[in-house]
Amino acid sequence: MAINVNEQTGFFHLQTANNSYIFHILNNGELEQVYYGKKIHDKSAFKRLTTHEYKNSTPSWEMNEDVLQPEALKLEYSGFGKGDFRYTAYQIESNNGSRINEFQFKKATVSKGKKRFSNMPASFSDDDGNDVQTLTVVMLDKLLNLEMQLAFTVFANQDVIVRSTKFINHGNHSVELNRALSMQLDLPDDDYDFIHFSGSWARERHLYRSHLRPGIQSINSLRIASGHQHNPFFMLARPKADEDQGEAFGFNLIYSGNFLDSVEVDQYNTSRILVGINPDEFGWRLNPDESFQTPEAVLTYSDQGMNLLSQNLSEFYSKHLVNPRFANKTRPILVNNWEGTYFNFDDQKLLNIARAAKSLGIELFVLDDGWFGHRNDDHSSLGDWFVNQPKFPGGFKNMIQKIHQMGLKFGLWFEPEMISKDSKLFVQHPDWMIKTPGRKSTPSRFQFVLDMTKNEVIDYLFKTISKIVQENGIDYIKWDMNRNITEAYSNNLPADRQLELAHRYILGVYDLYNRLTTKFPDLLFESCASGGGRFDLGMMYYAPQAWTSDDTDAIERLKIQYGTSYGYSLSMMGAHVSAVPNDQTGRVTPLSTRGNVAFYGNLGYELDITKFSEKEKQEVADQIKFYKKYRQLFQFGKFYRIKGPFEGDGNIVSWAVVNQDKSLAIAARYKLLNQPNWGYERIYFKGLDPNKKYHVNDSSEIFYGDELMNAGYFIPQMIHKNENVELLADYSSRLFIIKEAK
Ligand code: DGJ
Repeated sequence: MAINVNEQTGFFHLQTANNSYIFHILNNGELEQVYYGKKIHDKSAFKRLTTHEYKNSTPSWEMNEDVLQPEALKLEYSGFGKGDFRYTAYQIESNNGSRINEFQFKKATVSKGKKRFSNMPASFSDDDGNDVQTLTVVMLDKLLNLEMQLAFTVFANQDVIVRSTKFINHGNHSVELNRALSMQLDLPDDDYDFIHFSGSWARERHLYRSHLRPGIQSINSLRIASGHQHNPFFMLARPKADEDQGEAFGFNLIYSGNFLDSVEVDQYNTSRILVGINPDEFGWRLNPDESFQTPEAVLTYSDQGMNLLSQNLSEFYSKHLVNPRFANKTRPILVNNWEGTYFNFDDQKLLNIARAAKSLGIELFVLDDGWFGHRNDDHSSLGDWFVNQPKFPGGFKNMIQKIHQMGLKFGLWFEPEMISKDSKLFVQHPDWMIKTPGRKSTPSRFQFVLDMTKNEVIDYLFKTISKIVQENGIDYIKWDMNRNITEAYSNNLPADRQLELAHRYILGVYDLYNRLTTKFPDLLFESCASGGGRFDLGMMYYAPQAWTSDDTDAIERLKIQYGTSYGYSLSMMGAHVSAVPNDQTGRVTPLSTRGNVAFYGNLGYELDITKFSEKEKQEVADQIKFYKKYRQLFQFGKFYRIKGPFEGDGNIVSWAVVNQDKSLAIAARYKLLNQPNWGYERIYFKGLDPNKKYHVNDSSEIFYGDELMNAGYFIPQMIHKNENVELLADYSSRLFIIKEAK
């Protein structure tokens, strides 16, 4: 049994394969968090863990049998204003202006499995597997007749618990939700490092690690997108925890809009974690008989370090979050024309690229920005989703047919949420653009944003995109989103409901995704937001893969892909080989290293491949052959971080993928700057079976897994110049194919 409910004592004990999560009902009907961590035995009650001592100088709810001082309690999901002076999970305003609630336990139910949400991405268990159970705890504020449902789904096999909250107004008056976060978790001490993944455009998800200190430390977004700057995924880890040992908690949010991840260390060294929609720029009117569902927060815990934590999350995503049609399906190797041609292309040029792609073994041709309206640079045409005829003198459909006839799939770029002022759409519907009356609008990349809260906007986009897909047999869509929202105001909403815009906008995006993925179930979506500006679980629910970053430089990608791997799977990451000098950094790296980095994700090529020399053609054809042979492993193998770019001087980076039965692994080792006359170097592999015998690359020597993992594998530096000159230079890389010896 994964969920133990003790009705007599009021204790709830959620158990995954290796974790326990416990809370109970206090005397006043509120819920107290008791424990989250390594699995412990179940008991009817945990009295000693819930003993309360009187604290001076703080308010008390009860002083009788038990001392209930809210500030000194670990509360499960609390509200501000009644003595819990920390930031809280919710705040609700009633029609007399009061912001105090008294939610008391009403009932709890346990059900098998987990249903999807109708209007938002969410975890699911389509097969109602025995390892998935949902506990719903119903709390009631009697004065308002307002119900609060706290949902906890236990995904036992992946050590994941998913939490969310639903408010239902059974009262006669509307209430205003000022804060409605997805989860609150009070941990009993503060000896943790806060590890988050932050950066910027072309520098996404670099790892930052710092010890908790008193007060609030947080990351967030107010961009109406999760953003390049901070990813919603973060961890709390014991200071000595690393990839392979020690305690770590992971938190993520199945949402793509404004978010808040915060940790508050209070006066009693309790750490309060809040995850959910950012309460700033949020508000929601809940009328009688209406309900509000928060997005879901994903929680996981590992006492064996962060590699295991990430692997558990990956398995959870593939079984319970990503569209099952694609979750375990190998992804095509693509060529994308963006860095190859930018806006400067016509059908002949594209057909030449497609022909070259086919001859190299590429499977999908993706036509990026510039094929529509009269778009020849980034100043115009967003919203005009009809063909830019002069670029296709031989016909758009005809070109796609030819590409299909070559045996390639065809993918197309859209940026559905945007509008250019220089567009037919803007002439017809200037009121569809988000803008504040009487104020200037701030352009970004010369473009503006459509009001996705409007049904007519979603209808228009659904109709025009569907038409292009249907008429041309499109197999893949890259859904881009290249700016954040400013002057947020919707003429679709009354003056006193403008704070609903941010969330309603994202619900509109989800609605369009939902309609398109339902109508075209086999259409593969790749999400994108100027690279990785919306790399989150909300997007992954509809689009199983995302463009990881606009930075295609192999050395920068080491940091970006390494950082991304903590909270996401390899099959979610688009990774492309591009030209040198690199367009973002000017760096020149060997083609082998560009391939060896891009293998660890969904491989693509993003350069004018018609310009390859014969030698390059051969090398790329070999890369593609190699990737196809091991694609299953690269996209769906267990990923191990061996040495990170954020450790030490970051000069050596190393990682590996290992298959299910540990009979096959491919490790990579990248050396940024070469050093002369260096000491002996070894790589310590991970994830192998200690008792299995292996060969490494083509060596005839046999190695036990325990030798390769503990004693390591010697890497010679003294390479003969004729052998592989790239290994003697900067930015070198090597792959190690570790196969079980038969
Ligand atoms: C930003 C994306 O990240 C790029 O890959 C490319 O699609 C451009 N937009 C096109 O405008």
